[in-house]
Amino acid sequence: MSRPVALVLGGSGGIGAAVSRRLAPTHDVVASYHSDRDRAEALREELSGDCRRIEVLQVDATTEDGVLEAFTVAESLGELSVVVDCVGGWDYPKLVDLTVQDIDGTLALNLRSALLVLRESARRVVDGGRVVMVSSAAADVAPARQATYAAAKAGLEAATRVAAKELAPRRVTVNAVRPGATDTPYFRAVTSSRAIEAMAGSNAMRRLGTPEDVAGAVMMLCSQDAAWVTGTVVDATGGLR
Ligand SMILES: NC(=O)c1ccc[n+]([C@@H]2O[C@H](COP(=O)([O-])OP(=O)(O)OC[C@H]3O[C@@H](n4cnc5c(N)ncnc54)[C@H](OP(=O)(O)O)[C@@H]3O)[C@@H](O)[C@H]2O)c1
Repeated sequence: MSRPVALVLGGSGGIGAAVSRRLAPTHDVVASYHSDRDRAEALREELSGDCRRIEVLQVDATTEDGVLEAFTVAESLGELSVVVDCVGGWDYPKLVDLTVQDIDGTLALNLRSALLVLRESARRVVDGGRVVMVSSAAADVAPARQATYAAAKAGLEAATRVAAKELAPRRVTVNAVRPGATDTPYFRAVTSSRAIEAMAGSNAMRRLGTPEDVAGAVMMLCSQDAAWVTGTVVDATGGLR
């Protein structure tokens, strides 16, 4: 019996790998990556076996060709039931230092890619499927030194709500998950230890999120029980208010 297919863009990253691990027992998984081939191959090895099928695929999700390729490979495996978009990234430029290059790069990575993923999901996800977009608490909190990133993720959330309306006639739900500070290698690489400490103390749970915390929220939206939940944003921040 063929299994449903899940496409996880950025599926070998910190949060993405946790999502891929949760989906692998029930879905054939296509996990895309961009630059870290070793990490992607390690995930393929970890999740292969027991009749499971996992494909890892290098694409640039800021380009139309890259997103088309990811969807084409996923569709070639069977019924594309789930799409989770974990592609994204940020740094902390001061507003006074923002360059056009910074702006364009951050918008392409976090917003253009998301719009392309939503468009292809509208074309290819099967009736009754699930689309989950990974946003950021930055879209809501608007932290200092994240003007472009916050704007991009706010745009991703707006586009998610639009997609929910357009895909509703086919019972495809489209939602976003909004993580707060989450302990991934990328987060540690771009954030100072002082800022990490401050962020860990700023939510109700008084700790950083884990990739598994965020994957849990994604899985909730992918479940059958979430069939009536669409066009919404689930806050996965440990109570950041
Ligand atoms: N960690 C946090 O604190 C946090 C908080 C809020 C929101 N988020 C969001 O959560 C998502 C995952 O973040 P993370 O911390 O898990 O970081 P991550 O490990 O760097 O994950 C990002 C993923 O996107 C891929 N990627 C990067 N550039 C790409 C491109 N041009 N085309 C295609 N794929 C590309 C990366 O692949 P390679 O590694 O192979 O390049 C990686 O798989 C992002 O959308 C981020 O904005 C994270």
